[in-house]
Amino acid sequence: MNGRNAGDDWWRHAVVYQIYPRSFADANGDGIGDIAGIRGKLPHLAALGVDAIWISPWYPSPMADAGYDVSDYRDIEPLFGTLAEADALIAEAHAAGIKMIIDIVPNHTSDQHALFQAALAAAPGSPERELYVFREGRGSDGELPPNDWQSNFGGPAWTRVPDGQWYLHLFAPAQPDVNWRHPAIRVEFEQTLRFWFDRGIDGFRIDVAHGLEKNWELPDLNGLAFPLAEDAEHEHPHWDQPAVHEIFREWRAIADEYSPARAFCGEIWVGRPQRLAAYLRSDELHTAFNFDFLMAPWLPGQLRSVIDATIASHAAVGAPPTWVLGNHDVCRPVSRYARDQRLLKPMDRHLMDFQDLPADFDLGRRRVRAAALLMLALPGGAYVYQGEELGLPEAEHIPAEALQDPTWVQSGGTDKGRDGCRVPLPWTSAGDSFGFSPDGAAAPWLPQPEDWAPLAADAQDGVAGSTLELYKAALKLRRELGELGDGTLEWLDAGADALAFTRPAGAGSAGFQCWTNLGSGPLALPAGEVLLASGELTEDGLLPSDTTVWLRG
Ligand code: NOJ
Ligand code: CA
Repeated sequence: MNGRNAGDDWWRHAVVYQIYPRSFADANGDGIGDIAGIRGKLPHLAALGVDAIWISPWYPSPMADAGYDVSDYRDIEPLFGTLAEADALIAEAHAAGIKMIIDIVPNHTSDQHALFQAALAAAPGSPERELYVFREGRGSDGELPPNDWQSNFGGPAWTRVPDGQWYLHLFAPAQPDVNWRHPAIRVEFEQTLRFWFDRGIDGFRIDVAHGLEKNWELPDLNGLAFPLAEDAEHEHPHWDQPAVHEIFREWRAIADEYSPARAFCGEIWVGRPQRLAAYLRSDELHTAFNFDFLMAPWLPGQLRSVIDATIASHAAVGAPPTWVLGNHDVCRPVSRYARDQRLLKPMDRHLMDFQDLPADFDLGRRRVRAAALLMLALPGGAYVYQGEELGLPEAEHIPAEALQDPTWVQSGGTDKGRDGCRVPLPWTSAGDSFGFSPDGAAAPWLPQPEDWAPLAADAQDGVAGSTLELYKAALKLRRELGELGDGTLEWLDAGADALAFTRPAGAGSAGFQCWTNLGSGPLALPAGEVLLASGELTEDGLLPSDTTVWLRG
């Protein structure tokens, strides 16, 4: 394990690369990514310079929600490989100085999980059914769902079983919610944590961490919107329930038993910075995704307020902020930034929210490069979703018959869902599937846009000015410069159209500065050595619009 990644506080500054295993690299030629594919690309990740990888669920799964429907938390999905291959990957990643984070999905299991199958086989009122959320329906014959909760993918959050009871699923019907009030569920997940910690996994990304606890009286929502207002005095019945913190205190105690330190990152959509920070108190989760940054439009005032609110709320609990531009659930940032940012609405993150707006993809890519340098200079850790280092856009034109996301069916064909950011990666500009699978293999599980050859990793590797080389240079500097990663920032006066800050270092060291120009004209820079820029400066040394520069002042 190399230098700065070896310490117990690695999670305070780590750049974590998200691998969506179905779409990363396919070694055995069935058109679906696998663990052997990941092992083959470790040199790419080591050369990129990331501190850790997070792998989206790799467990046995019927794939009703691309692996977020887990049927066995302590094994590997055969499509992806074997437990022995997972062990080998953990060892190889560690040998390359890369930490390994995996996904845990505690809000729901697959309907094929042994516990849910046992619950279905057992009678209403049985102990087996207590592990999930079974209720009688409403209406004279129980023919109506127990309450008005809606599935995140569309339609009611309840499905009726043949004996007449209903079960809760905040996501697909194939993802029944478990009952976190039941001690057996707590034990079950604690055993899973230990199973993987004992195998050397360095941390978990926690799926829907804000959803595990419910108001168990299961009251109707009556149209209650979420996130709640900043000053709301009531709680939402199934998101961000206060009792959820007790679970994470138990989990933290388990992580703290291990050495080197194991860490958690919560997927927590609560909208309110203080409520997010509550999950990051010193006896709870280590970090959480900063979705406010991901959703912020590319506008200076809004970015600045998100950065300030993030830093303040995290500092209050002593947690490091994180920064993220994309993941497997949201529109790729190139395509979001390609739209007129003033027309985005506060929660817009899915392509369907803005796909009808005109798009300028060169502009989107320029902004994403600038955003990447901005994000990597901010205090704390950062997440890079596979393909961001290649500047991939959203695949906006997947034919309806090829769509796989359950959102498409559950929304009655009104929401295309998230497949556009899940398209298999282009590794080579030539060859079938751009090198995602071996030549002659089955077609990739989602079709790739035909014009991706110039974006392929081999078309960018070693090419000055490519997005891949920009990421490599930034991550290398991040490791070399003591100021970057964990710490604080001090804003510089750069006018209303720019963001500029220093990262305070020890006494006597010449300061690092990050300047981002979000205005329409070029910006004068202070004197200093240019360490890295997301685009070329003008002949006069000015910073063009939508460009970030790192300086040594
Ligand atoms: C969040 C995951 O990121 C998403 O892909 C999944 O569909 C839901 N949680 C349900 O597990
Ligand atoms: Ca495969």
